[in-house]
Amino acid sequence: MEKIFAGILGMGHYLPDKVLTNYDLEKMVDTNNDWIVERTGIKSRHIAAPEQATSDLAFIAAERALKDAGIDGKDIECVIVATESPDTKFPSTACLLQDKIGAKNAAAFDLSAGCSGFVYALAVANTMIVSGLYKHILVVGAETLSRIMNWQDRNTCVLFGDGAGAAVVGQVEDGYGILSIDMGADGSGGQFLSQPAGGSRKPASHETVDAGEHFIHMDGSEVFKFAVKIMGRTAENAMKKAGLNTEEIDLLIPHQANIRIINSAAKRLGISMDKVFVNVDKYGNTSAASIPIAICEAREQGLLEKGKTVILAGFGAGLTWASIALKWSK
Ligand code: UT7
Repeated sequence: MEKIFAGILGMGHYLPDKVLTNYDLEKMVDTNNDWIVERTGIKSRHIAAPEQATSDLAFIAAERALKDAGIDGKDIECVIVATESPDTKFPSTACLLQDKIGAKNAAAFDLSAGCSGFVYALAVANTMIVSGLYKHILVVGAETLSRIMNWQDRNTCVLFGDGAGAAVVGQVEDGYGILSIDMGADGSGGQFLSQPAGGSRKPASHETVDAGEHFIHMDGSEVFKFAVKIMGRTAENAMKKAGLNTEEIDLLIPHQANIRIINSAAKRLGISMDKVFVNVDKYGNTSAASIPIAICEAREQGLLEKGKTVILAGFGAGLTWASIALKWSK
């Protein structure tokens, strides 16, 4: 059987209008701009308007991706939304999005893999395309983490932001698109980054709300240690699986969580920072949305012409990690 290559046919992203700077945060919680910039590289983040939920952000990004790909919603056969801040536990945000974009012929489901979610979803879509199951899949990373943030917890509230990025995935020219995938998980570290209540283990109650257990809880230094260890390693694995060496990489697009984590991954890989895409300063950590937003911006900046070799590398809650090597096909 003829080998099919899957890749990105079109992309779009969306960031809500409201910008929250470090100086704004200084007025809300015991923190300061210098600490945030020095420890994370973040200067500002975008926050969804009160009436916007994750599917609304996803919808705008999706419409832009469909337009970019020249594909109509009804030609999408599957919608995958990677998110940790869905509109509701169920129905899935993917089903809400499927309806909004008129993807009447599509299956739809959410995928939970923390900040690795978009890369995981792209890997799933790749398998569905190369197997011949579907022709066009909409893959979205979208978050309104501001809704599950404890704005009194300086350990977390300075880090995250809202946003969405979407990709239409389909068949591309032979030799282009997704070249290799590396994914993994270590559930033993799950407690280091979680939303403790609201599920079947601890259903929402007055007590869980009073204890703030519906918010994001994170042991920052444990996640930091994990991230520094894993991000370079997973990117390296994807490169090896694709038979690529460092010199052949045109651009590394890492998950945007912390500039120090990005620097350490680049160092391990021996990739100079001018080949590493960074926008964590503007948006903070938008979790599953961070990589697709970064791809869109890299493309807008002219860094992704046809034939460029790119590594996407993420890590996140779960704990999870995922990398993809791809040859840009547009
Ligand atoms: O996508 C995955 C999501 N998560 C991550 O990627 C997070 C990974 N972890 C990190 O990025 C870092 O661990 C942080 C940025 C969260 C923290 O940086 P750190 O260098 O590991 O700082 P720390 O946790 O060791 O804290 C150092 C000090 C502490 O004070 P004491 O105990 O030394 O007096 C903290 O209380 O900094 C204090 N601190 C703050 N100070 C001002 C913690 N947060 C803040 C803050 N402003 N926002």
